[in-house]
Amino acid sequence: MKTKDLMTEAAEAKSLSKVKKIGILTSGGDSPGMNAAIRSVTRCAINAGIQVYGIQRGYQGLIEGEFIELDRYSVSDTMQRGGTMLKTARSEDFKTEAGQERAASILQTFGIDALVAIGGDGTMRGAFDLSKFNVPVICLPGTIDNDLGYTDYTIGFDTAVNTVLEAIGKIRDTSSSHERTTVIEVMGRKCGDIAVYAALAGGAEGVCVPEMPVDVNRICNKIITDGHKGRTHSVIIIAEGAPIKTTDLVDEIKRVTHKEVRQVVLSYLQRGGSPSSADRLLGTLCGAKAVEVLTDPNFDLGSYAIGEQNGKICAISLEEAVNMKRDFKEELVGLINVLSK
Ligand code: F6P
Repeated sequence: MKTKDLMTEAAEAKSLSKVKKIGILTSGGDSPGMNAAIRSVTRCAINAGIQVYGIQRGYQGLIEGEFIELDRYSVSDTMQRGGTMLKTARSEDFKTEAGQERAASILQTFGIDALVAIGGDGTMRGAFDLSKFNVPVICLPGTIDNDLGYTDYTIGFDTAVNTVLEAIGKIRDTSSSHERTTVIEVMGRKCGDIAVYAALAGGAEGVCVPEMPVDVNRICNKIITDGHKGRTHSVIIIAEGAPIKTTDLVDEIKRVTHKEVRQVVLSYLQRGGSPSSADRLLGTLCGAKAVEVLTDPNFDLGSYAIGEQNGKICAISLEEAVNMKRDFKEELVGLINVLSK
């Protein structure tokens, strides 16, 4: 096809698109890679002739009308930064029907045809509620937790795991020097993925996750047996949502093994930092897919969730996405136990 034909086709596609103006927001806990997603949505949308409005402070900013128009330069030099250039919040007001109704009416006042919402479980559920007020919402999976059932990975998870790995390495240095056990608590809400992936890649001696009962005896016996074999330190990873509190686990290990035990809660460190290449790519590809969904006449103008399934970027109905349960890979915990025997 000649360049002129291609240009005509692009111009026709622009004028045919039902969507002329979109809003974009980030909501809930920030995650590394959100900026790559914002940049990709903004630039792909502008390229397709769509006006883009950034909404600050998530759904709360939406209710309060905090809109700023974005051009392609508004998103320059943001991809390498952690956090979100649009700011984020957890909005109590938006959880009410009145709040959702107000959000829908503000979008209408601003002439926004569709909203792109980047966030985790709460953001998706909020988007689904908003879609009931005839607002098309496209969701991108932005959370370190990796707890969304419809996507293999979420934007931010890979960076968070790498941050935990860096911490494990440093903690091991001091733990082995002092011949101690250190229990490291990681985030993830009710999902054990950060704990499992970090324990596996960091060679941890044990892992406790929300999805499985905790075998404290196994952990203690291992520490004692290792000690007899001359291995005098160990690192145990516990997810914040595990069925035992970190302090209780520490006390129990101390009581049974009579050894020195320390605890480290990594907390918000895991949410910050420059995003890994995997998170920048996932954010960028999901952003481009969101705009494809908004402009492709094969997609009805409705609500969708963008994610990755079996390595492919896909769009599925938002209703289906919020109802999909996550499969926990129990066999990975088995592997951690085999490798650390
Ligand atoms: O969902 C991301 C997350 O970091 C969870 O892992 C954690 O439980 C929660 O957010 C902490 O939330 P907040 O920022 O409100 O303290």
